[in-house]
Amino acid sequence: MGKTTVSINLAHSFARAGVKTLLVDADPQGSVGLSLTRQSRLLAGFYDYLADPKIPLERLIVPTRLKTFSLVPSGQGSDYEAGGGGMGAHIARIKAFLAGVSAQGFDLCLIDTAAGLFGISGDVISSSDAIMIPQQSEPLGIRSVPKLLEGLQRLRVMNPRLSVLGVCLTMVQEDLVESTGAAVALRQLLPPAMVFRAQIPRDGLFVRASARGLPVGVLEDGAHAQGIFDSLRAEIETKLQPNGGIRTTHL
Ligand SMILES: Nc1ncnc2c1ncn2[C@@H]1O[C@H](COP(=O)(O)OP(=O)(O)OP(=O)(O)O)[C@@H](O)[C@H]1O
Ligand SMILES: [Mg+2]
Repeated sequence: MGKTTVSINLAHSFARAGVKTLLVDADPQGSVGLSLTRQSRLLAGFYDYLADPKIPLERLIVPTRLKTFSLVPSGQGSDYEAGGGGMGAHIARIKAFLAGVSAQGFDLCLIDTAAGLFGISGDVISSSDAIMIPQQSEPLGIRSVPKLLEGLQRLRVMNPRLSVLGVCLTMVQEDLVESTGAAVALRQLLPPAMVFRAQIPRDGLFVRASARGLPVGVLEDGAHAQGIFDSLRAEIETKLQPNGGIRTTHL
């Protein structure tokens, strides 16, 4: 839990810093679009492109009030994945999509995926330069992280370019020892470089922001939360190769 919220607010932080950012909703449930663009259910999007790559990319890109921040909603073709194709079937189309995004002049394409390493999520990861893993800070959830990282190592055989940036602890509940304890346990379990120093607190602010279809930074009392995402962005910037064409995926 918390993946889409991290995607939206991190993308917003990059965009505010002047990085021309495209946030892509690759979750067939379409929650980025749902929370940021009211009409997104009616718009063509990522899954429409996968179904028919002849669709011009410009038709999928939704601008926001911030000039450097645009979105691609999940789209109408969300049942496309059910149509099958094995592991890797969509990689060529995803790569064509990403090439188109670069050609449109975006500096960063951040893709919010559904959980897991299979299906379209796996293909997105196999087509990406980098991945970060938002992980809810609770005891059961963190137990699955080592397995997930192992699975990512297997995907790196197919895509050696993939850089695993690390895990971002999210929904950390300071007044709940099970939650803070889970954060500490994960930091003990993994090498320090694999867990971002910035961690996202559980805060009603995020629910309020998503109910209004906004990144948290634009709320009047959102400056502190925005600051946490700015720190996360700074950590990511130091980890990414400064060679452009960067694509970050969320799980
Ligand atoms: N740090 C947080 N503090 C409080 N509420 C949060 C936080 N992060 C997310 N939420 C809330 O939890 C719910 C689920 O969050 P989100 O959609 O980001 O999770 P997700 O991992 O993308 O879920 P899904 O698996 O459905 O894609 C939303 O209502 C969101 O507003
Ligand atoms: Mg989500």
